[in-house]
Amino acid sequence: MHYRLNKDCVLVEGQARGAIYALTTGRVYSINQGAVNLLQACRQAALEDIMDLTLSDNKLYLSFLDRLTALGLGAGYTDPPPDQKRALSDYKPQLEFLWLELTTSCNNRCLHCYSASSPHTPAGLVPHNRWLDLISEARRQGANSIQLIGGEPLLYPRWQELIVKARQENYELIEIFTNATLVNDDCIDFFKQHNISIATTIYADNALVHDTVTLHEGSFEKTMAAVKKLLANDIPLRIASIIMQANEHEVENIMNLYARLGLEPAPPDVVRPTGRGDDQALLPLTYSKPMIKPPFFTDAETFDKSRKFHSCLAGRVAITANGDVIPCIFARDQICGNILKSSLADILNGQLLAECWCTTKDCVNKCKACEYRYACYDCRPLAQGTDPQKSWQAAPADCLYNPYTGKWEEDN
Ligand SMILES: C[S@@+](CC[C@H](N)C(=O)[O-])C[C@H]1O[C@@H](n2cnc3c(N)ncnc32)[C@H](O)[C@@H]1O
Ligand code: SF4
Ligand code: SF4
Repeated sequence: MHYRLNKDCVLVEGQARGAIYALTTGRVYSINQGAVNLLQACRQAALEDIMDLTLSDNKLYLSFLDRLTALGLGAGYTDPPPDQKRALSDYKPQLEFLWLELTTSCNNRCLHCYSASSPHTPAGLVPHNRWLDLISEARRQGANSIQLIGGEPLLYPRWQELIVKARQENYELIEIFTNATLVNDDCIDFFKQHNISIATTIYADNALVHDTVTLHEGSFEKTMAAVKKLLANDIPLRIASIIMQANEHEVENIMNLYARLGLEPAPPDVVRPTGRGDDQALLPLTYSKPMIKPPFFTDAETFDKSRKFHSCLAGRVAITANGDVIPCIFARDQICGNILKSSLADILNGQLLAECWCTTKDCVNKCKACEYRYACYDCRPLAQGTDPQKSWQAAPADCLYNPYTGKWEEDN
Protein backbone atom coordinates (compact mmCIF):
# COMPACT_ATOMS: atom_id res chain seq x y z
CA MET A 1 0.00 0.00 0.00
CA HIS A 2 1.06 3.58 -0.73
CA TYR A 3 0.14 6.35 1.67
CA ARG A 4 -0.13 10.06 0.87
CA LEU A 5 -1.35 13.13 2.65
CA ASN A 6 -4.33 14.68 0.88
CA LYS A 7 -3.70 17.49 -1.55
CA ASP A 8 -4.69 20.27 0.84
CA CYS A 9 -2.68 18.85 3.73
CA VAL A 10 0.89 20.06 3.98
CA LEU A 11 3.66 18.63 6.14
CA VAL A 12 5.82 21.35 7.69
CA GLU A 13 8.98 20.17 9.37
CA GLY A 14 10.43 21.72 12.48
CA GLN A 15 13.70 20.94 14.20
CA ALA A 16 12.28 18.40 16.64
CA ARG A 17 8.71 17.77 15.46
CA GLY A 18 6.48 18.38 12.46
CA ALA A 19 2.97 19.64 11.80
CA ILE A 20 0.30 18.76 9.28
CA TYR A 21 -1.52 21.84 8.07
CA ALA A 22 -5.04 20.87 6.94
CA LEU A 23 -5.73 23.87 4.74
CA THR A 24 -9.38 23.07 4.08
CA THR A 25 -10.39 22.98 7.76
CA GLY A 26 -7.60 25.31 8.89
CA ARG A 27 -6.45 22.94 11.65
CA VAL A 28 -2.78 22.35 12.40
CA TYR A 29 -1.83 18.94 13.83
CA SER A 30 1.42 18.44 15.71
CA ILE A 31 3.26 15.18 15.01
CA ASN A 32 6.46 13.70 16.39
CA GLN A 33 9.69 13.11 14.48
CA GLY A 34 8.91 9.39 13.94
CA ALA A 35 5.65 10.35 12.22
CA VAL A 36 7.46 12.94 10.10
CA ASN A 37 10.00 10.31 8.99
CA LEU A 38 7.21 7.86 8.18
CA LEU A 39 5.31 10.36 6.01
CA GLN A 40 8.50 11.31 4.21
CA ALA A 41 9.38 7.65 3.58
CA CYS A 42 5.84 7.08 2.26
CA ARG A 43 6.50 9.64 -0.47
CA GLN A 44 9.31 7.44 -1.80
CA ALA A 45 8.12 3.86 -1.33
CA ALA A 46 5.26 1.49 -0.54
CA LEU A 47 4.58 0.77 3.13
CA GLU A 48 5.60 -2.89 2.67
CA ASP A 49 9.02 -1.70 1.47
CA ILE A 50 9.46 0.67 4.39
CA MET A 51 8.66 -1.78 7.20
CA ASP A 52 7.66 -5.32 7.97
CA LEU A 53 3.90 -4.94 8.43
CA THR A 54 3.61 -8.24 10.29
CA LEU A 55 5.77 -7.07 13.19
CA SER A 56 3.64 -5.97 16.12
CA ASP A 57 6.05 -3.04 16.82
CA ASN A 58 5.06 -1.55 13.47
CA LYS A 59 1.31 -1.68 14.27
CA LEU A 60 1.79 1.69 15.94
CA TYR A 61 2.74 3.26 12.59
CA LEU A 62 -0.26 1.68 10.88
CA SER A 63 -2.68 2.92 13.49
CA PHE A 64 -1.13 6.41 13.14
CA LEU A 65 -1.89 6.30 9.39
CA ASP A 66 -5.41 5.00 10.11
CA ARG A 67 -5.92 7.95 12.41
CA LEU A 68 -4.77 10.37 9.69
CA THR A 69 -7.22 8.75 7.29
CA ALA A 70 -10.06 9.03 9.81
CA LEU A 71 -9.25 12.73 10.25
CA GLY A 72 -9.40 13.22 6.47
CA LEU A 73 -5.72 14.10 6.28
CA GLY A 74 -4.48 11.28 4.08
CA ALA A 75 -5.37 8.10 2.25
CA GLY A 76 -3.97 4.69 1.28
CA TYR A 77 -3.61 3.68 -2.40
CA THR A 78 -2.98 0.30 -4.02
CA ASP A 79 -0.87 1.87 -6.79
CA PRO A 80 1.35 4.90 -6.34
CA PRO A 81 -0.96 7.91 -6.91
CA PRO A 82 0.09 10.64 -9.36
CA ASP A 83 2.13 13.40 -7.73
CA GLN A 84 -0.43 15.73 -6.16
CA LYS A 85 1.85 18.42 -4.88
CA ARG A 86 -0.12 21.51 -4.00
CA ALA A 87 0.85 24.59 -6.02
CA LEU A 88 1.71 27.66 -3.93
CA SER A 89 -0.39 30.66 -4.89
CA ASP A 90 1.53 33.36 -6.76
CA TYR A 91 0.47 36.03 -4.25
CA LYS A 92 2.63 39.14 -4.46
CA PRO A 93 1.92 41.91 -2.01
CA GLN A 94 0.92 45.30 -3.27
CA LEU A 95 -0.02 48.29 -1.17
CA GLU A 96 -3.41 47.81 0.48
CA PHE A 97 -3.41 49.92 3.61
CA LEU A 98 -1.83 53.27 4.34
CA TRP A 99 -1.40 55.20 7.60
CA LEU A 100 -0.81 58.94 7.24
CA GLU A 101 0.60 60.41 10.46
CA LEU A 102 -0.45 63.97 9.74
CA THR A 103 1.23 65.53 12.74
CA THR A 104 3.35 64.52 15.70
CA SER A 105 1.70 67.18 17.79
CA CYS A 106 -1.06 66.31 20.25
CA ASN A 107 -3.18 67.98 22.92
CA ASN A 108 -2.73 64.86 25.12
CA ARG A 109 0.60 63.69 26.52
CA CYS A 110 -0.12 59.99 27.03
CA LEU A 111 2.37 58.16 29.24
CA HIS A 112 2.93 55.41 26.67
CA CYS A 113 2.73 57.24 23.33
CA TYR A 114 4.78 55.45 20.63
CA SER A 115 5.08 58.65 18.58
CA ALA A 116 6.14 60.57 21.72
CA SER A 117 3.51 63.20 20.94
CA SER A 118 2.63 66.18 23.10
CA PRO A 119 1.58 69.82 22.71
CA HIS A 120 5.30 70.65 22.51
CA THR A 121 6.22 68.23 19.72
CA PRO A 122 6.77 69.91 16.32
CA ALA A 123 3.87 69.31 13.93
CA GLY A 124 5.70 67.79 10.95
CA LEU A 125 7.51 68.49 7.68
CA VAL A 126 5.24 67.19 4.92
CA PRO A 127 3.69 70.05 2.90
CA HIS A 128 -0.07 69.90 2.44
CA ASN A 129 0.19 69.38 -1.34
CA ARG A 130 2.46 66.40 -0.78
CA TRP A 131 -0.15 64.75 1.45
CA LEU A 132 -2.77 65.40 -1.25
CA ASP A 133 -0.53 63.86 -3.94
CA LEU A 134 0.29 60.89 -1.73
CA ILE A 135 -3.38 60.04 -1.36
CA SER A 136 -3.62 59.73 -5.17
CA GLU A 137 -0.22 58.06 -5.52
CA ALA A 138 -1.06 55.41 -2.93
CA ARG A 139 -4.40 54.72 -4.59
CA ARG A 140 -2.63 54.20 -7.93
CA GLN A 141 -0.33 51.74 -6.17
CA GLY A 142 -3.34 49.70 -5.04
CA ALA A 143 -4.22 51.07 -1.58
CA ASN A 144 -7.94 50.81 -0.80
CA SER A 145 -7.90 51.69 2.91
CA ILE A 146 -6.42 54.78 4.48
CA GLN A 147 -6.17 55.93 8.07
CA LEU A 148 -5.40 59.49 9.16
CA ILE A 149 -3.56 59.29 12.46
CA GLY A 150 -0.91 61.19 14.40
CA GLY A 151 -0.23 62.56 16.99
CA GLU A 152 -3.70 63.99 16.94
CA PRO A 153 -4.85 64.19 13.30
CA LEU A 154 -7.59 66.74 14.05
CA LEU A 155 -4.86 69.21 15.01
CA TYR A 156 -3.71 69.13 11.37
CA PRO A 157 -5.32 72.33 10.11
CA ARG A 158 -6.51 71.09 6.66
CA TRP A 159 -7.45 67.49 7.51
CA GLN A 160 -10.88 67.88 5.91
CA GLU A 161 -9.30 68.55 2.49
CA LEU A 162 -7.40 65.26 2.77
CA ILE A 163 -10.64 63.40 3.46
CA VAL A 164 -12.34 65.03 0.47
CA LYS A 165 -9.37 63.94 -1.66
CA ALA A 166 -9.49 60.37 -0.35
CA ARG A 167 -13.22 60.22 -1.11
CA GLN A 168 -12.58 61.51 -4.65
CA GLU A 169 -10.01 58.75 -5.03
CA ASN A 170 -12.62 56.15 -4.04
CA TYR A 171 -10.90 54.59 -1.05
CA GLU A 172 -13.11 51.84 0.31
CA LEU A 173 -12.29 52.60 3.94
CA ILE A 174 -11.33 56.00 5.30
CA GLU A 175 -10.69 56.03 9.03
CA ILE A 176 -9.55 58.76 11.39
CA PHE A 177 -7.76 57.59 14.55
CA THR A 178 -8.33 60.45 16.96
CA ASN A 179 -8.35 60.98 20.71
CA ALA A 180 -11.74 62.57 19.94
CA THR A 181 -11.26 65.46 22.36
CA LEU A 182 -11.60 67.92 19.47
CA VAL A 183 -14.65 66.36 17.82
CA ASN A 184 -17.40 69.00 17.61
CA ASP A 185 -20.77 69.10 15.82
CA ASP A 186 -19.16 70.28 12.58
CA CYS A 187 -16.83 67.28 12.64
CA ILE A 188 -19.79 64.95 13.19
CA ASP A 189 -21.61 66.43 10.17
CA PHE A 190 -18.47 66.13 8.09
CA PHE A 191 -17.84 62.50 9.12
CA LYS A 192 -21.42 61.61 8.22
CA GLN A 193 -21.35 63.43 4.93
CA HIS A 194 -18.13 61.71 3.85
CA ASN A 195 -18.85 58.27 5.29
CA ILE A 196 -15.85 58.30 7.61
CA SER A 197 -15.07 55.62 10.20
CA ILE A 198 -13.62 56.68 13.53
CA ALA A 199 -11.23 54.94 15.90
CA THR A 200 -10.58 56.37 19.34
CA THR A 201 -9.02 55.38 22.65
CA ILE A 202 -10.34 54.97 26.17
CA TYR A 203 -8.10 54.04 29.09
CA ALA A 204 -10.74 53.66 31.84
CA ASP A 205 -14.41 54.17 32.54
CA ASN A 206 -13.67 57.22 34.67
CA ALA A 207 -11.91 60.55 34.33
CA LEU A 208 -9.51 59.99 37.22
CA VAL A 209 -7.65 57.08 35.61
CA HIS A 210 -8.12 58.03 31.94
CA ASP A 211 -6.73 61.52 32.52
CA THR A 212 -3.82 60.05 34.50
CA VAL A 213 -2.80 58.23 31.30
CA THR A 214 -3.42 61.13 28.91
CA LEU A 215 -1.97 63.71 31.33
CA HIS A 216 -4.75 65.99 30.09
CA GLU A 217 -7.36 67.01 32.61
CA GLY A 218 -10.84 66.93 31.11
CA SER A 219 -9.84 64.58 28.26
CA PHE A 220 -12.11 61.75 29.46
CA GLU A 221 -15.21 63.96 29.51
CA LYS A 222 -14.45 65.27 26.01
CA THR A 223 -13.67 61.84 24.51
CA MET A 224 -16.79 60.27 26.06
CA ALA A 225 -19.01 63.14 24.90
CA ALA A 226 -17.67 62.60 21.36
CA VAL A 227 -18.15 58.82 21.59
CA LYS A 228 -21.81 59.31 22.50
CA LYS A 229 -22.36 61.76 19.63
CA LEU A 230 -20.61 59.46 17.15
CA LEU A 231 -22.81 56.56 18.21
CA ALA A 232 -25.98 58.66 18.19
CA ASN A 233 -25.16 59.63 14.61
CA ASP A 234 -24.43 56.04 13.53
CA ILE A 235 -20.87 56.87 12.58
CA PRO A 236 -18.84 53.63 12.45
CA LEU A 237 -16.75 53.62 15.61
CA ARG A 238 -14.18 51.34 17.18
CA ILE A 239 -12.51 51.95 20.50
CA ALA A 240 -8.99 50.84 21.37
CA SER A 241 -7.83 50.46 24.95
CA ILE A 242 -4.21 50.09 25.96
CA ILE A 243 -3.29 48.74 29.36
CA MET A 244 -0.30 49.82 31.41
CA GLN A 245 0.41 49.95 35.12
CA ALA A 246 -1.57 53.19 35.56
CA ASN A 247 -4.84 51.61 34.31
CA GLU A 248 -4.40 47.85 34.69
CA HIS A 249 -7.25 47.64 37.21
CA GLU A 250 -9.62 49.12 34.66
CA VAL A 251 -9.83 46.13 32.30
CA GLU A 252 -13.21 44.93 33.53
CA ASN A 253 -14.59 48.46 33.72
CA ILE A 254 -13.48 49.09 30.15
CA MET A 255 -15.13 45.87 28.93
CA ASN A 256 -18.36 46.80 30.74
CA LEU A 257 -18.20 50.26 29.23
CA TYR A 258 -17.91 48.74 25.74
CA ALA A 259 -20.96 46.59 26.48
CA ARG A 260 -22.96 49.60 27.75
CA LEU A 261 -22.05 51.48 24.58
CA GLY A 262 -23.12 48.49 22.46
CA LEU A 263 -19.62 47.97 21.05
CA GLU A 264 -17.86 44.68 20.27
CA PRO A 265 -15.94 43.60 23.39
CA ALA A 266 -12.25 43.09 22.56
CA PRO A 267 -9.65 42.45 25.26
CA PRO A 268 -7.46 45.54 25.62
CA ASP A 269 -3.92 45.50 24.25
CA VAL A 270 -0.83 45.86 26.42
CA VAL A 271 1.49 48.83 25.99
CA ARG A 272 4.12 48.13 23.33
CA PRO A 273 7.78 49.01 23.75
CA THR A 274 7.99 51.88 21.26
CA GLY A 275 8.59 55.61 21.85
CA ARG A 276 7.54 56.62 25.39
CA GLY A 277 6.05 53.12 25.64
CA ASP A 278 9.56 51.66 25.70
CA ASP A 279 9.72 51.89 29.48
CA GLN A 280 9.66 48.86 31.80
CA ALA A 281 8.05 50.97 34.51
CA LEU A 282 4.90 51.27 32.38
CA LEU A 283 4.36 47.52 32.07
CA PRO A 284 1.28 46.20 33.86
CA LEU A 285 2.02 43.88 36.79
CA THR A 286 -1.05 41.66 36.59
CA TYR A 287 -2.61 42.06 33.14
CA SER A 288 -1.16 40.36 30.08
CA LYS A 289 -2.34 39.14 26.71
CA PRO A 290 -2.53 35.36 26.29
CA MET A 291 0.78 33.69 25.42
CA ILE A 292 1.27 32.15 21.97
CA LYS A 293 0.01 28.56 22.24
CA PRO A 294 -1.70 25.82 20.24
CA PRO A 295 -4.19 25.23 18.80
CA PHE A 296 -2.99 27.04 15.69
CA PHE A 297 -5.28 27.68 12.76
CA THR A 298 -4.69 28.94 9.27
CA ASP A 299 -6.27 28.90 5.83
CA ALA A 300 -4.84 28.30 2.39
CA GLU A 301 -4.48 32.01 1.59
CA THR A 302 -2.74 32.95 4.86
CA PHE A 303 -0.52 29.87 4.68
CA ASP A 304 0.65 30.73 1.16
CA LYS A 305 1.19 34.35 2.11
CA SER A 306 3.14 33.57 5.26
CA ARG A 307 5.54 31.24 3.43
CA LYS A 308 6.87 34.15 1.41
CA PHE A 309 5.84 37.32 3.20
CA HIS A 310 5.15 38.69 6.64
CA SER A 311 1.52 37.92 7.38
CA CYS A 312 0.79 41.34 8.92
CA LEU A 313 3.32 43.78 7.40
CA ALA A 314 3.07 42.88 3.71
CA GLY A 315 0.81 45.36 1.91
CA ARG A 316 0.97 48.15 4.50
CA VAL A 317 3.02 51.27 5.04
CA ALA A 318 2.88 54.25 7.36
CA ILE A 319 4.10 57.70 6.42
CA THR A 320 5.24 59.75 9.38
CA ALA A 321 4.84 63.50 9.81
CA ASN A 322 8.45 64.01 8.68
CA GLY A 323 7.90 61.96 5.53
CA ASP A 324 9.56 58.70 6.57
CA VAL A 325 8.00 55.53 5.19
CA ILE A 326 7.91 52.73 7.76
CA PRO A 327 6.22 49.32 7.50
CA CYS A 328 4.09 49.81 10.64
CA ILE A 329 3.34 52.63 13.07
CA PHE A 330 5.17 50.64 15.78
CA ALA A 331 8.28 49.91 13.63
CA ARG A 332 9.65 53.41 13.89
CA ASP A 333 13.29 52.64 13.15
CA GLN A 334 12.63 50.51 10.04
CA ILE A 335 12.79 53.52 7.74
CA CYS A 336 12.40 52.44 4.09
CA GLY A 337 12.65 55.86 2.46
CA ASN A 338 11.28 59.39 2.71
CA ILE A 339 8.53 60.78 0.52
CA LEU A 340 10.14 64.26 0.59
CA LYS A 341 13.06 62.75 -1.36
CA SER A 342 11.48 59.91 -3.39
CA SER A 343 8.20 58.97 -4.98
CA LEU A 344 6.04 56.56 -3.02
CA ALA A 345 6.27 54.13 -5.98
CA ASP A 346 10.09 54.07 -5.74
CA ILE A 347 9.93 53.35 -2.02
CA LEU A 348 7.32 50.64 -2.50
CA ASN A 349 9.54 48.99 -5.11
CA GLY A 350 12.70 49.46 -3.05
CA GLN A 351 14.86 46.85 -1.38
CA LEU A 352 14.32 48.13 2.19
CA LEU A 353 10.54 47.74 2.14
CA ALA A 354 10.83 44.42 0.28
CA GLU A 355 13.01 43.14 3.14
CA CYS A 356 10.41 44.18 5.72
CA TRP A 357 7.51 42.70 3.78
CA CYS A 358 9.51 39.48 3.23
CA THR A 359 10.32 38.95 6.91
CA THR A 360 8.73 35.51 7.15
CA LYS A 361 9.18 33.40 10.27
CA ASP A 362 11.91 31.61 8.34
CA CYS A 363 13.99 34.74 9.11
CA VAL A 364 13.07 34.94 12.80
CA ASN A 365 15.33 33.49 15.48
CA LYS A 366 13.91 30.31 17.04
CA CYS A 367 10.71 30.45 14.92
CA LYS A 368 12.73 29.38 11.87
CA ALA A 369 13.11 25.97 13.57
CA CYS A 370 9.42 25.68 14.47
CA GLU A 371 6.82 23.61 12.65
CA TYR A 372 4.09 26.14 13.54
CA ARG A 373 5.90 28.98 11.75
CA TYR A 374 3.40 29.39 8.88
CA ALA A 375 0.35 29.43 11.16
CA CYS A 376 1.63 31.48 14.06
CA TYR A 377 0.79 35.18 14.30
CA ASP A 378 3.77 37.52 14.44
CA CYS A 379 4.23 41.13 15.54
CA ARG A 380 7.75 42.09 14.45
CA PRO A 381 7.87 45.53 16.13
CA LEU A 382 6.69 43.96 19.40
CA ALA A 383 9.34 41.20 19.25
CA GLN A 384 11.99 43.74 18.27
CA GLY A 385 11.01 46.23 20.99
CA THR A 386 11.05 43.53 23.67
CA ASP A 387 14.45 42.22 22.63
CA PRO A 388 17.39 43.64 24.64
CA GLN A 389 19.43 43.89 21.37
CA LYS A 390 16.42 45.37 19.50
CA SER A 391 16.98 42.88 16.68
CA TRP A 392 14.45 42.81 13.82
CA GLN A 393 14.89 39.02 13.79
CA ALA A 394 14.21 38.62 17.53
CA ALA A 395 12.03 35.70 18.62
CA PRO A 396 8.70 36.74 20.18
CA ALA A 397 8.94 37.04 23.96
CA ASP A 398 5.39 35.73 24.42
CA CYS A 399 6.08 32.15 23.32
CA LEU A 400 7.30 29.38 25.60
CA TYR A 401 7.82 26.78 22.87
CA ASN A 402 11.25 25.31 22.34
CA PRO A 403 11.25 24.01 18.75
CA TYR A 404 14.70 22.46 19.28
CA THR A 405 13.30 20.05 21.88
CA GLY A 406 9.65 20.09 20.79
CA LYS A 407 8.60 20.97 24.36
CA TRP A 408 6.48 23.78 25.79
CA GLU A 409 7.82 25.35 28.94
CA GLU A 410 5.49 26.00 31.87
CA ASP A 411 3.48 29.20 31.66
CA ASN A 412 3.26 30.60 35.20
C1 LIG B 1 -0.73 57.18 18.63
S1 LIG B 1 -2.45 57.21 18.85
C2 LIG B 1 -2.92 58.38 17.60
C3 LIG B 1 -4.39 58.62 17.56
C4 LIG B 1 -4.97 59.42 18.68
N1 LIG B 1 -4.13 60.48 19.11
C5 LIG B 1 -5.34 58.51 19.87
O1 LIG B 1 -4.64 58.51 20.85
O2 LIG B 1 -6.36 57.81 19.74
C6 LIG B 1 -3.08 55.68 18.18
C7 LIG B 1 -3.26 54.57 19.18
O3 LIG B 1 -2.01 54.07 19.53
C8 LIG B 1 -2.04 53.75 20.90
N2 LIG B 1 -0.66 53.72 21.39
C9 LIG B 1 0.18 54.75 21.54
N3 LIG B 1 1.35 54.33 22.04
C10 LIG B 1 1.25 53.00 22.21
C11 LIG B 1 2.12 52.00 22.71
N4 LIG B 1 3.35 52.30 23.14
N5 LIG B 1 1.67 50.74 22.75
C12 LIG B 1 0.42 50.41 22.32
N6 LIG B 1 -0.43 51.32 21.83
C13 LIG B 1 -0.04 52.60 21.78
C14 LIG B 1 -2.86 54.85 21.50
O4 LIG B 1 -3.28 54.49 22.81
C15 LIG B 1 -3.95 54.96 20.48
O5 LIG B 1 -4.95 53.99 20.76
S1 SF4 C 1 -1.49 58.20 22.18
FE1 SF4 C 1 -2.66 59.59 20.87
S2 SF4 C 1 -3.61 61.00 22.29
FE2 SF4 C 1 -1.98 60.03 23.39
S3 SF4 C 1 -0.22 61.43 23.17
FE3 SF4 C 1 -0.08 59.83 21.59
S4 SF4 C 1 -1.03 60.73 19.83
FE4 SF4 C 1 -1.70 61.92 21.61
S1 SF4 D 1 6.30 32.09 18.24
FE1 SF4 D 1 7.80 31.03 16.97
S2 SF4 D 1 8.51 29.30 18.24
FE2 SF4 D 1 6.60 30.07 19.15
S3 SF4 D 1 5.00 28.77 18.27
FE3 SF4 D 1 5.14 30.62 17.00
S4 SF4 D 1 6.55 30.08 15.35
FE4 SF4 D 1 6.80 28.56 16.99
